[in-house]
Amino acid sequence: MNARADFPFFAVTDAPVYLDNAATTQKPACVLDALRRFYTSTNSNVHRGAHRLSRAATETHETARSAVASFLHAASPREVLFTSGCTEGINLVAQTLALTASVKEGDEVLVSTDAHHSNIVPWQMLCERTGAKVRPIPLTPELQFDMPAYLSMLSGRTRVVAVPVISNALGLHLPVEEITRAAHDVGALVCIDGAQSVAHEPVDVQKLGCDFFAFSGHKVYAPTGTGALWGRESLLEALPPWKGGGEMINQVSFARTTYNRLPFKYEAGTPNICGNIMLAEALNYVQRLSLSAIHRHESALMRELCEGLQQIPDVQLLGGSAPRGSLVSIHVPGVHPYDLGTLLDQMNVAVRTGHHCCQPLMQYLDITGTTRFSVALYNQSDDIQRALTATRKALSMLR
Ligand code: ALA
Repeated sequence: MNARADFPFFAVTDAPVYLDNAATTQKPACVLDALRRFYTSTNSNVHRGAHRLSRAATETHETARSAVASFLHAASPREVLFTSGCTEGINLVAQTLALTASVKEGDEVLVSTDAHHSNIVPWQMLCERTGAKVRPIPLTPELQFDMPAYLSMLSGRTRVVAVPVISNALGLHLPVEEITRAAHDVGALVCIDGAQSVAHEPVDVQKLGCDFFAFSGHKVYAPTGTGALWGRESLLEALPPWKGGGEMINQVSFARTTYNRLPFKYEAGTPNICGNIMLAEALNYVQRLSLSAIHRHESALMRELCEGLQQIPDVQLLGGSAPRGSLVSIHVPGVHPYDLGTLLDQMNVAVRTGHHCCQPLMQYLDITGTTRFSVALYNQSDDIQRALTATRKALSMLR
């Protein structure tokens, strides 16, 4: 696969070896073109005006929702809520649950130890309000999800299980279908963080069987400030709205307000119309390339990267050679990740260093942070070789 020419970002002469794709991706020309097309031909508010432009904007916006539904294999576009990203999606679930009596004192929310802050803190906030408790699901010594420990933690008190498909700091795959089945056996809801998976492998929320699935647009070639939350229709019908305003209402009076049907009940105010259209454009783009082909291409790059890193003295791959997504974190005893990242930057290689919004995981590993390399569909073997050469050189300077 060689799709780099689709990305204007790489046309500049000193474009970096960009291996910080787990933080955010570059955008293809078709997504950038969608912005210009919208603002020069269709720009208007949705669901409001009688005029032609408003009808066109509404139709394009709702076609975008159908594209997201089809990308996720949702049963209906009614199950797709546009959000500002994965973080907002998870907050929506946690905060609407806080408005119901379904989570009570003594209840538990189980969260994997390698979860991102956005899949920990919203549950802590739910628990602060309700008297429930967040319990971390441990990892095995190999840093895998500890299934026996998880199964032993499930009980009638478990209200929610929240896990990522692929952890953002370690890149390890979690057995989300098995996790979901076991949670449902005790009547718990399952909220999946798909932020690190949607750009790299196909997703089918119906097959997965979860209750909620959140992801961010900017990690899948769409703009920042976009994303979606998929929720099972019966649950979205039953839960209350969380933000009030225009669009989410049916009838408003000072005596009583009634709410709109799905999905609009959860979308107060003017939505990020153009952003949502660009999100659909990005999802259509990866589907045209084929997520299976992207997965094969990135898996080959990851093999090359991991094998190369393993040959550098003292470099430890966190999670070893376990199956992983499109990212790998390394730890080098005696070398601060920030120093390594800074030297790599000076050699025009962009990686991420630090705790990756996973402070509890870093506490568990007893390290301050890691150096993380993450690939995307536009990376090539040449990027991997340049990054490996730069890492070897940087480490020889640091030790
Ligand atoms: N969540 C993003 C990351 O993992 C920012 O880098």
